Amino acid sequence: MKREIKPSGLPIEDLESVVEQLIESGRQVKVLWQYPGSLAFVAKGRDYRSEFHLNASDEVTYMIRGTMHLHHRTPDGEESVAVIPAGATNWMPPNTEHSPRFPSDAFALILERGRRDGEVDHFRWYCPECGEFLHQEDFTVEDYTLDPVSKAYARFFDSVEARTCAHCGHVMPRPDQQVG
Ligand SMILES: [Fe+2]
Repeated sequence: MKREIKPSGLPIEDLESVVEQLIESGRQVKVLWQYPGSLAFVAKGRDYRSEFHLNASDEVTYMIRGTMHLHHRTPDGEESVAVIPAGATNWMPPNTEHSPRFPSDAFALILERGRRDGEVDHFRWYCPECGEFLHQEDFTVEDYTLDPVSKAYARFFDSVEARTCAHCGHVMPRPDQQVG
């Protein structure tokens, strides 16, 4: 992780330009900076997002374009949704299971902090049929430019075993098998 401020000065990023770069490149994420105390990136929405992310950092979201439905789970497993429209921001405490759902023409600025030694990010899926815990992928996020969310998705959806519910037997379909 980078720890020094460049001689050229403090980073200033134009969010609309970053959005245009993402649209043109087809990339999912652009990291604006990452330091131990501050990690900032702009994320393009995914039309299909199913997992809940769990990490040790506070998280601030600012919606640049479009609306986010920020699904989150309480420690008791109750799910609720925070709706964040374009131009609005919100804060979420550390270790909140959260699933930021926003379409592919929507863009969010996310502010976290770098992970400390020993901190592991978790990506959890729950059965869409019965709601029981389905599978977890674990990642040590040393560099957010490696797009850990996309890697977790690839691992999960490439495994039929991971997508098969031990409780009810339902097999969660791949996104390209979803209807509508
Ligand atoms: Fe199930």
